[in-house]
Amino acid sequence: MSSPMEHSWTIFEEYHIDEDVGFALPLPLEELPHPYDAWISIARNLPELIKNNQLRMEVEKLAMLSIDGLRGHRAQRLGHLVLGYITMAYVWGQGGGDIRKVLPSNIAVPYCKLSEKLGLPPILLYADCVLANWKKKDPSGPMTYENMDILFSFPGGDCGKGFFLVSLLVEIAAASAIKVIPIIFDAVKREDSDTLQRALLDVSSSLHKALDVFSQIHKYVDPNLFFNVLRIYLSGWKGNPLLSEGLLYEGVWDTPKKFAGGSAAQSSIFQCFDVLLGIQHTVCGVPSDPAAEFLQEMRTYMPPAHQSFLLSLKSRPSVRDFVLSKGNATLQETYDKCVQAMVSLRDYHLQIVAKYIIIPASQQSQSKAESSEEDLKAESKGTGGTNLMDFLKSVRGKTVKSLLKEH
Ligand code: HEM
Repeated sequence: MSSPMEHSWTIFEEYHIDEDVGFALPLPLEELPHPYDAWISIARNLPELIKNNQLRMEVEKLAMLSIDGLRGHRAQRLGHLVLGYITMAYVWGQGGGDIRKVLPSNIAVPYCKLSEKLGLPPILLYADCVLANWKKKDPSGPMTYENMDILFSFPGGDCGKGFFLVSLLVEIAAASAIKVIPIIFDAVKREDSDTLQRALLDVSSSLHKALDVFSQIHKYVDPNLFFNVLRIYLSGWKGNPLLSEGLLYEGVWDTPKKFAGGSAAQSSIFQCFDVLLGIQHTVCGVPSDPAAEFLQEMRTYMPPAHQSFLLSLKSRPSVRDFVLSKGNATLQETYDKCVQAMVSLRDYHLQIVAKYIIIPASQQSQSKAESSEEDLKAESKGTGGTNLMDFLKSVRGKTVKSLLKEH
């Protein structure tokens, strides 16, 4: 009989989870064949085209392409990534308020067809700009910031590279904990507390490594560039007063559609450990408050295979109930170490959000005494469109409540 580990990689393949990079796309493609190279060349020169005010003109000149020549998952993901970059740039322009509310059909039609094929919404997603937007400089070198780069950039210099790559590296650090999930379920099934104890220790150690990697954000992401430049290009058209009706995808739908912007809230990694550890954001599968509703909604912005993985975890016997039923103090402490690691990640994330959004937003509203109410409302929201501090504190609060013992 195969061990749970040997068995696991065939299961993970089905869920598009990679042994080394977890939910990230392994070895993303960098080029598309002709005629799709026209999309690549716009996406690659995006900051320059935006600066020279040529981007919209170049996009309007594009031929309407069928997506039938985009063969294979990696080519389709690259197509989705570049069309996402182009769409964000077309809508937000130079980032100064000259916004387009209609996406021309030559880009909207292939974008929506490709999105439908991949089961993803037609807007730039975390699955695009983080999970499928990377390469190693030296292919035989390590997965470190120094040896990696992003494939496409927005204006704002290296700020985007910092934000996307650090997010990716957090994902990858936590990915080593995905590997032990089959061992955890097997141990629960066999009621093997010792093996479960060791596996949970592995999970907490991977989550601590992820926290360590998170701290690199300070080194590579400038708060002003993030707040004033990059954040604009990641913004969506749902819950966004600047595009309150949504975006009209010309030639696809007759009415504008609303989609949330790119946010790490669309990452599967935190939600994966929430489900595994039984950190409840829902009551009987139904979101219990607006924060839970938002997290649930964000799943529809994840690749379908990852959504299925989260559902499959949920359908397994509860690790938390098993730990509680055993009444074993050491096992309970180890379980709590994992939940505490999730609390620490969320605490750290809250500090980052204060530094990168709340403080610059309050500085800006002080300096712009005449800002309209609309501007201020838009500034206090995350790219996903949430009232962010209420949302993040509520999610953190639920994580703390999952600790078996108060610390
Ligand atoms: C400059 C850095 C960052 C900022 C300003 C930031 C901002 C935000 C904001 C505003 C939200 C609320 C949802 C929204 O409206 O978008 C959010 C949610 C979230 N972010 Fe970040 N984020 C940053 C980096 C990261 C990184 C590196 C990760 C890890 C990969 C991450 C993981 C998450 C998760 C998982 C959520 C959902 C809430 C939760 O599960 O706790 N964020 N982020």
